[in-house]
Amino acid sequence: MMNDKVLVTGGAGFIGSHLARALLAEGHAVTILVDLSMGKEENIPVGASFIQGDVRSQEDVRRAILGAGIVFHEAARVSIRASVKEFYEDADTNFMGTLNLLKCCSKSDVRKFVFASSMAVYADSASPNPIAEDYTTEPISPYGIAKLAAEKYCMQLTSEMGIGCHILRYFNTYGPGQTYTPYVGVITIFIRQLLQGQSPRVFGDGEQRRDFVHVSDIIAANLLSMKSPLARGIFNVGTGKATSVNDIASLLCRRIDPQCQPCHADAHPGELRNSIADIRSISAALGYRPAAALPEKIGEVIEFYRKGTGNRGKQVEEPPERDRSPIPASSGSGNRRP
Ligand SMILES: NC(=O)c1ccc[n+]([C@@H]2O[C@H](COP(=O)([O-])OP(=O)(O)OC[C@H]3O[C@@H](n4cnc5c(N)ncnc54)[C@H](O)[C@@H]3O)[C@@H](O)[C@H]2O)c1
Repeated sequence: MMNDKVLVTGGAGFIGSHLARALLAEGHAVTILVDLSMGKEENIPVGASFIQGDVRSQEDVRRAILGAGIVFHEAARVSIRASVKEFYEDADTNFMGTLNLLKCCSKSDVRKFVFASSMAVYADSASPNPIAEDYTTEPISPYGIAKLAAEKYCMQLTSEMGIGCHILRYFNTYGPGQTYTPYVGVITIFIRQLLQGQSPRVFGDGEQRRDFVHVSDIIAANLLSMKSPLARGIFNVGTGKATSVNDIASLLCRRIDPQCQPCHADAHPGELRNSIADIRSISAALGYRPAAALPEKIGEVIEFYRKGTGNRGKQVEEPPERDRSPIPASSGSGNRRP
């Protein structure tokens, strides 16, 4: 599998760009397919081939997938909150885009398909106990419904095509380079609010609990998945540890502006109360061990944004949906090989 050609969709985004960098470092030839509706061309690592296109376009995907042995499908509209109103656009990219990719996998060289799914596929949980992969999948947001439906198509169609398939259900991912929007990535949002002299705004009572996983652990899970001889699997990717949104807000106030107190606003529909990963399955099957500890890593993330390098992603002050119409497929492509 070394030096295999790999396709990373969404490789200008937060997780996709970290993944592309790691794959290049391991000696793979990396092609990135991304529409640049979020993220930035500068995020695309030097050395990767870059096709500016849309995962919903057969022409774009067929071009990008040519010769690829492995596909990491990261491209998505990632706002759970926005998916409540923008359910059509959400499903169009996250569900139909995935189907288009699967369709293009047939009669290709692809041997393994790794799909970036989400904790949003699960039913809400009354307790902050970790949930395993067989926990009820009853999503409470359109985003979760589209991810779950896409998962099922991934498993069934790749099986018919004789392609390996891993579904990785990421929990709340944080780290340097997260694309800022007012909706995605509570740690990034709070850091930005505090650095701008504002109080972190907690939606609801703040006692909702999350499993915050550093992007380096998400990348490690993807690399393990790629290298694993196991053909198929659905895995949670998190840490197994519960942290409340209040705890995060207080921690960040202490680190950035100890005079500041979090403020509260109304809770939003479609958000889970408790979302903690049971990671025993991925640990046993792939040897995954989360290595990043939140209290240690948070300082690095604060520094990243303090230095202003956090402005790598598109900065969105207003609801981003109107800005997120796809860029025409013909509008550009490039090659960032040195
Ligand atoms: N960040 C998290 O906490 C988290 C949690 C669970 C799952 N995920 C999943 O991980 C993946 C990566 O998320 P991220 O946080 O890096 O998001 P991101 O917004 O930073 O990156 C997503 C990328 O996908 C691209 N994209 C969107 N629609 C596209 C389309 N139609 N065609 C081509 N490219 C398109 C965007 O331009 C962007 O560069 C997504 O599938 C997301 O659903 C993320």
